[in-house]
Amino acid sequence: MAIAVECPDIRMLINEPWLPLPGTRSIKARCLRHKGFLIMIALVQGERIVASLKPVERVDDEWRVMDAELYKEWLEELLEGRVPFFHSSCTVNPGRPYRIRVYSKGARSLGLIIHARERLFAKVMRRAEQDNLEPLMLAYLSENAPGLAPKPYCTVFLNEGKPYLILMEDVGGEEAAKIYLGKAAESIRGGDAAPIREGLIIGKAAARMHKALLSCREEWCRPEEASSRDLASWIHRLRVRASTILRLSRDSLASQASHAILEIAGRLEEELSPPWGTVKARIHGDLHLGQIRVKKNTAVITDFEGEPYKHPASRLEKETPERDLACLARSIDYAFRLGAGGERWREGLLKPSETMKLWEQEAFEAVLKGYMMLRGLTLSPEMLRLWLAERASYEAVYELRFHTGLHPIPMAALIRMWRGDDPLLSMVEKLD
Ligand SMILES: Nc1ncnc2c1ncn2[C@@H]1O[C@H](COP(=O)(O)OP(=O)(O)O)[C@@H](O)[C@H]1O
Ligand SMILES: [Mg+2]
Repeated sequence: MAIAVECPDIRMLINEPWLPLPGTRSIKARCLRHKGFLIMIALVQGERIVASLKPVERVDDEWRVMDAELYKEWLEELLEGRVPFFHSSCTVNPGRPYRIRVYSKGARSLGLIIHARERLFAKVMRRAEQDNLEPLMLAYLSENAPGLAPKPYCTVFLNEGKPYLILMEDVGGEEAAKIYLGKAAESIRGGDAAPIREGLIIGKAAARMHKALLSCREEWCRPEEASSRDLASWIHRLRVRASTILRLSRDSLASQASHAILEIAGRLEEELSPPWGTVKARIHGDLHLGQIRVKKNTAVITDFEGEPYKHPASRLEKETPERDLACLARSIDYAFRLGAGGERWREGLLKPSETMKLWEQEAFEAVLKGYMMLRGLTLSPEMLRLWLAERASYEAVYELRFHTGLHPIPMAALIRMWRGDDPLLSMVEKLD
């Protein structure tokens, strides 16, 4: 039985990226002890954080703690279902873990490389959420599109079925974002052109994923015809975000971006007239270049949790496949800007250089080309236009809300879209 105990001093956790402290006034935390480990459940800024911790040493009056999943004893306890409130389900026996190291530490999850019978990857969710469909998506894709996404071995759920840990195949390869950043830097220095080969591979992978998901017959992923109400709600997201941006920022770029969003929403409302026989389906939902790993001639897609802050929409909503392509397009814009290095991404935000225009267009064209190589899929330029703006509005709110400082990137894109001189939007116009 787990015993309720006092939590370690929160100040000891200050360097944990999953604990958002700046601006937080109070934290309500509960801790339970199980075999020398602690399970901490905290409420921070309205979000529930779950973390397993290992108190390692006492310094003065405070305990220094580590992530418990770095200890094989704890992983075994979790995977064998011996920790109260957690239960585990495995489709493949992973064998006993003997070496564990941290691969990535994000604001919401911890990525671990685990050596057991094979090299495995574990994703530990520091926000255990009911609307996280990642285990379902991984299971479905590993069956219906083998090799496209990591094969899941075990899932550990918390309480009423909230995914807490996914143990899966380590897919290796390199993060596409890293490749694109490197290539952008090279182009800016006057070297190589846009990543064409990678774009084709990524486009093809996105098409394979959509094809598999569009033939899903289970309730959670069955495609449905989109209604005029869906369309109205997608445009409504733009309006909500226009006002959220104004609430979160007072600078002049923010007010221009907010104005641009409202103008775009009005235009879309006039242009997009239902009924149009569009299908909405389960899609990736957050398909940026950081979620794709490229190895040799294939791309593996990861992270099926959806967007971490989708307000005012829900992560369970179905959307049209074009949204994933719009996410990729937007990610190409980030890659080129950030590839410049340092603060150079701020240059020419509203008036991009010819090099940038060409690079972004070629990079996106390659993705679209790769996508269309798989027969039987169609792309609607109208939907792409809608999602380009909607995704950029999501990004602007996200960057402001999480204080990344990068909000000018999507804001400038929205202003360019409104003025009609965004290179990615022009690429879409060419599809017409
Ligand atoms: N199965 C896997 N094998 C190898 N690397 C992975 C795997 N799943 C995710 N990654 C990598 O781990 C990092 C974080 O994973 P991700 O699922 O995107 O979590 P988050 O976005 O919450 O940090 C990314 O660099 C991703 O490429
Ligand atoms: Mg991710």
